[in-house]
Amino acid sequence: MAKAADVEVLHWWTSGGEAAALNVLKEDLKSKGIGWVDMPVAGGGGEAAMTALRARVTAGNPPTAVQMLGFDIQDWAQQGALGNLDAVATAEGWDKVVPAALQRFSKYDGHWIAAPVNVHSTNWIWISKDALDKAGGKAPQNWDDLVVVLDKMKANGITPLAHGGQPWQEATIFDGVVLSEGNDFYKKAFIDLDPEALGGKQMADAFDRLMKLRTYVDDNFSGRDWNLASAMVINGQAGMQIMGDWAKGEFLKAGKKPGVDFVCIRFPGTQGSVTFNSDQFAMFNVQGDDKQKAQAQMASSIESPKFQSAFNVVKGSVPARTDVPDTDFDDCGKKGIKDLAEANTNGTLFGSMAHGHAAPAAVKNAVYDVVTGAFNGKYKDGTEAAQALASAVAAAK
Ligand code: GAL
Repeated sequence: MAKAADVEVLHWWTSGGEAAALNVLKEDLKSKGIGWVDMPVAGGGGEAAMTALRARVTAGNPPTAVQMLGFDIQDWAQQGALGNLDAVATAEGWDKVVPAALQRFSKYDGHWIAAPVNVHSTNWIWISKDALDKAGGKAPQNWDDLVVVLDKMKANGITPLAHGGQPWQEATIFDGVVLSEGNDFYKKAFIDLDPEALGGKQMADAFDRLMKLRTYVDDNFSGRDWNLASAMVINGQAGMQIMGDWAKGEFLKAGKKPGVDFVCIRFPGTQGSVTFNSDQFAMFNVQGDDKQKAQAQMASSIESPKFQSAFNVVKGSVPARTDVPDTDFDDCGKKGIKDLAEANTNGTLFGSMAHGHAAPAAVKNAVYDVVTGAFNGKYKDGTEAAQALASAVAAAK
């Protein structure tokens, strides 16, 4: 029997929790005789990975499969760089089980080009149970509650907010902050890119909130990786982290239990809404039947309901198909699955700006610049930051 080709996989899953989840995929493929050639490019949010990818494609030697987000997938498809997964997708009925919000990115021109692995979302807060108990024990329901809890944590002598100062992390916080200004506002500003929403009063208010959050961060936040910020909450140095649900992977890897050691809540004021990002494996044009076969096998493995459960339980995300039982998920995972389904039904499911599901890369990067600038004191107030955002997005569109 001819040896099955290996798959070479470019990804940015290098933290403890991420690597544990990736291992579920590696082992699954190994059990089917598919070898794994690893191409990790560290850096949350995947910016460094996308730079490495461009170099590989330019050299005419793309990897088999690449972890990718939202608009980036569409961008590569438009350039004709991606393969075609229609055969496996049709045989397995993906059209019926993958939510439309994901298919919008997994398909180009009617053809399947990527296999969605998960659905993450960004409007979460991860709170130390102990620190919350010492701060009154009540999870914040709205912005004012949040400020009260953060102030108490400060008075209790810990860093209230664990944060890593990197543009994508500040943008991740900002997803939740903007959403807390209202569903319609998030949509107008970040999906429709409406200049008045981007530069107006509510955006100014959102920036004021972001700047307020900055006051709860420790002095050494600049450049810190997101998983090290999670570790600060895990080891009791900090009270909470505003981060997507990949943070849960770090808590689980450290042996921590939801409800016992940590609490997961939606960013106050965003209950009932979800800003999502879905990791997908975009499949590149590779030469040779054996390679294409391995690629299709990888895609098929990823979409299997059993794998979707096993992988997402470890990763912190929820399944990319609607028919996977929540039985094996912990309480945060069960909540994530329920929130996603409800938001999808109620029209309150939105693509994450920070993670490439709201707008193409040029706009996302323009938003990153202004948001990071605001977090680092570049603007005198929210009004000035909002005006800068409207101009930056207009120039990038
Ligand atoms: C996101 C990605 C997640 C997680 C995170 C931090 O963009 O969708 O899977 O890995 O970055 O690295």
